[in-house]
This record gives sequence, C-alpha cells and structure tokens, in this order.
Amino acid sequence: MPSVIDEILARADIVEVISSYYPLKKAGKNYRTNCPFHLEKKPSFTVSPEKQIFHCFGCGAGGNVINFIMLQEKVERREAIKILAERLGIKIGREDARILSLYKLLGEACQIFHNFLLSPIGKRAHDYLKERGITPETLKKFSLGYVPSGKAWFNELRKKAGSDANLIKTGLALEREGRIFPYFWDRVMFPIFNLSGKVVGFGGRMLREGEPKYLNSPETSVFEKGKILYGLNISRGEIAKKKTAILVEGYMDLLALYQAGIENVCASLGTSFTPHQASLLRRFAERVVILYDPDEAGQDASLRALESLWNEGIKVEVVILPSGDDPDSFLKHSGKEKLLQLLESAQDGFEFYFHRLKEKEQGNTRKIMERCFYFWQDLKDVWMRDTLIQRGAELLNIDVSVLKDAWKSFRKKKWSTVTESLTLPAKPEEQYLLSLCLNFPSVRDRIFTALSLEEIEDPTISRIFALLKEKKDDPFSLSTFLENLEDKERKYISALLLRGIPHSDPEKECDDCLRKIKEQRTRKKIRELQEKIRRVEKGSEEEKNLLKTLQELMRRDTA
Ligand code: CTP
Ligand code: MN
Repeated sequence: MPSVIDEILARADIVEVISSYYPLKKAGKNYRTNCPFHLEKKPSFTVSPEKQIFHCFGCGAGGNVINFIMLQEKVERREAIKILAERLGIKIGREDARILSLYKLLGEACQIFHNFLLSPIGKRAHDYLKERGITPETLKKFSLGYVPSGKAWFNELRKKAGSDANLIKTGLALEREGRIFPYFWDRVMFPIFNLSGKVVGFGGRMLREGEPKYLNSPETSVFEKGKILYGLNISRGEIAKKKTAILVEGYMDLLALYQAGIENVCASLGTSFTPHQASLLRRFAERVVILYDPDEAGQDASLRALESLWNEGIKVEVVILPSGDDPDSFLKHSGKEKLLQLLESAQDGFEFYFHRLKEKEQGNTRKIMERCFYFWQDLKDVWMRDTLIQRGAELLNIDVSVLKDAWKSFRKKKWSTVTESLTLPAKPEEQYLLSLCLNFPSVRDRIFTALSLEEIEDPTISRIFALLKEKKDDPFSLSTFLENLEDKERKYISALLLRGIPHSDPEKECDDCLRKIKEQRTRKKIRELQEKIRRVEKGSEEEKNLLKTLQELMRRDTA
C-alpha cells in the first residue's frame, strides 16, 4: 500500500513546485536559479527533473521535493508533507489516523492526570504546587496534573489504547523484558502542547528532592523535544502582539511569569535551544529576551540560543539575574515590578555575546574569532553578519578592517575544505561506484557481491551503501530513498548526482572501479607487509613466512 509520502514523491514534480516559488532557467538537462537559501550572485541552485532532486553548490542544501518545502516554508517534515498533499489533492489517510489516535490517548492521559491532581490522591502534589505559589487558575490553564504510583490509571489507559504497542508509542509506557510499565509515577505532570493545542508529551517533576528532578517523555513520533517550546500554544498571541518573546529555561519559570501577568513567555525545556525552536519563534517574535538561569550552564546556553536566534534575523537581548536566582525565585522575593525593570534594561545581545566569549576564552582573541567565524560561515542572514563584524570589532577592540581580513582568509581556506568534503571523498572510485549504484540499480548486486561494506573507506558512502543493500524495492526510487537519510548523506547524494559523473557503460565501469579498489587494497597490504618485514629479525622463520605471503600478493597484483 503506497504511503502518502510515496504518493507525493510519485506525483509531485520538483521543477513545477520550485518554479512556483522561483524562476528556473534551463541549463542543459537541469534547471538553475539563484539559491533562495543563501545570498549569491551566480546561480548555483540546481534542480534535476530527471532525478527529482535539487542541490545548491554554494550552501550545500539539497534533497527531494519534501526537503525543499521544509526549507522554503520553514516547517517540519510532517507539515511539509501536508502542504504538498494539499497541493496535489492527496488525502492523508492511514498515517494521519495513527497520529490522531496518539493525540487522543495523550489527551486522555492528560485529563486523567489533571483529575488526580484535584482529587484526594493528588493532595500532596496539589499542596506542593500551592506552596510554590501556583494558583488554581494556572493549574487549569496549563492542565497540570499528578500521576500516582498505583497502576489503576495505567490499566485504564492500556484498555483505551487497544494494544500495548500503541501505548508505548505515546511514550507513557515502556517495555522491559516483555513486560509493560508506566513511564512516569508519583510526579507532578506538566503536559506539553504543540501549536495546535494537542498534548504531545509530558514533563514530570518529583515531589521531593531526588534524581532526576524532571523526567520528560521520551521522543516519539509526535514529540521531538528540540522542535517544541513549552507554553507557546498559550502565549503565541501575546508574543505576536508584543512582537517580543521572553525565553526561559524551566516549566516553573514559565508558569511564574505567566501568572504574574508577563504572558509573552515560552520555555525551551532545559535542552539547549535549537535552530528549530528559533525558526518556530520567528513566526511570532521579532525580538527575544533571554532570561535563563544566571549560572555558567545558563550563560553558555544563552550564548548558543543567541546564535540560533540571530540566524533567524531575530533581535536578541539578555537578562542576567542575580546569582543563585532563577526567574521563578526572583519573582517570588523581588516581585513583578523589579523583574519588569530588569527586562526593560536587558543587555544588548552583542554586548553579552562578546563579553561572554572574552570570559570563556580568557581574552584570547584568536580563539574568540575562530568561534565567531565558525558561526558566521553558517549564518544565513548577511546583514546580521555585517552587524556582527562591526559590533564584534568594537567590542573586542579590533580594527574592523583587520577583522574583515581575518574573516576573509578564514573563509577562503574554509570554503575549499567545505566544498572538498562535499564532493570529493577519500576515494574517487568509491564515489564513482555510488554514482553507478544510484543511476543504474542493476549493477548493485555486482558491487555488493564483490565488495563488503567494511572495505569501503569513506564513512558516508559506506552508510549509504548499507542502506542501499537493505533496500530491495523495485523499481528503485531515488527520492523515496532520500527520505530515510540523514541530512549529511542526503546532501552528499544530491551533490554527487547533480555534479553528474558521466556514465557510458555501467557494467564495465563498475568492474573497472572494483578492480581498482581491489588493487589499491592489495597494494596497501603489500606496503604493510613490507613494513612488517623490515621490523622482524632477519633470517627468522617469521620473516620467511611474511616473504612468502608478500610474493603471493605481488604475483596477484601484477596478474
Ligand atoms: N530539566 C530537565 N531535566 C532535569 C532538570 C531540568 O528536563 N533533570 C529541564 C526542565 O524543563 C526544567 C528546566 O530544565 O524546567 C530548568 O531546570 P531547573 O532550573 O533545574 O528547573 P526549575 O524549573 O527551576 O525547577 P524547580 O524550580 O522546580 O526546581
Ligand atoms: Mn526553579
């Protein structure tokens, strides 16, 4: 049964889709345009109608039509699939039904936990939250809950789930040695909602001191921690209105601020803030004030968050609370007005950034610049980079022209290695074989019988081969294959195929390549043997044996 993805990939025409956004110019077999994902003067963004893939030789972006929509619309995979399905008039059936049933179960669990919190069983948790200053309205608004240690609720949910496998998929249960257990017990539950208001996971806090203090749902098909911001489903309106978001680390911090009437707040769930979260936030905010814990970990997390936010062109400011505080505790002892004052007088992001870098690298300008350069080379927004150069020079006390020169020379060196690693693996033969394999599925068996995966040196190529070997679908679809690859592998393939190694006689080329690889291997063995022989005792039995092996190898090599 074809899945929605298969159907999309079979029916969408990548040229048609991309040209509905950007003008494509025919160039040989392919189409070209200026890359929409980085600034360039000459078009290096290439689209292949034949292979149904795209690749930008400037920034390395590449993949199939779904990957394009993800980049273009700044959306997750599932959303991109939805957009394309809609465009093509494909009904999302089975897959969606499965997801919907997960949402339903998670929603039901959330309700069960919430009821526990308000019942005698949840009294301890209820008292705890009350003591921490959480009001009954907040309990309700954020659907806080309590999960007891008993198993009654669990069995109820098991029945609702229909099968244990379904329950495990929600992340609420786990299996150990054939038995099924609840993932959470005796914890205050903070349900985590996606932007459509569906529960996708939970954070559970222990009532006493203990480890781990917070336990989050495992990643599931609906819960990817790095792609969600806690509270955003509720605060998005206020954030959009003020065009500003306050970013905190913790569940309790968020609740405390919201409850104090500072409603344009969201939390990054303790993980380091991801580029995904930045692009999510960009849909609502033009400016972000980072309000993390003032400890070392919090400041370093702020540093990384800054970079991701800048990358989305967001203006950033940073508040550093008095040491020992977090937003929740600060509010408690100093009150809302004091916190608002701090937010008003937040430090300019650039000042914080360069100051923190100086501190971290103990004033070593070289090291600071290196960190900046690595960040700048991936920066999408050129204006932001220009500002960073100007402000960096000023704040690091370096002459702007010196900084610019250093950046230029870094980039030249860097760019050559970037493009090299993208297009030239250690062995051209391996690259050649991969290209053959992808263009002519019929040669695959020939390659896999002659060559074992361990014999392939380039790790990326070896991984791709391993996946190809597993794949027995007939006929082979490139864009479907790309679906299951990691970013790096996908870009590698789009680069390889669109650079286009010309093939005329696949079988012969394949045999030539295989022979070359074998020869190289033999020669390598010979070198290793010669090295060994040099080190063993002259005239010994060992030397004799080694020499014999060497002779055999040499004979084979010249044969
Ligand atoms: N966190 C986590 N796992 C942990 C500790 C923390 O996922 N073991 C995440 C939680 O999202 C938490 C955030 O990191 O809210 C910040 O951690 P921390 O400052 O320790 O939590 P607080 O929210 O301040 O917790 P509390 O005030 O309840 O002690
Ligand atoms: Mn706290």
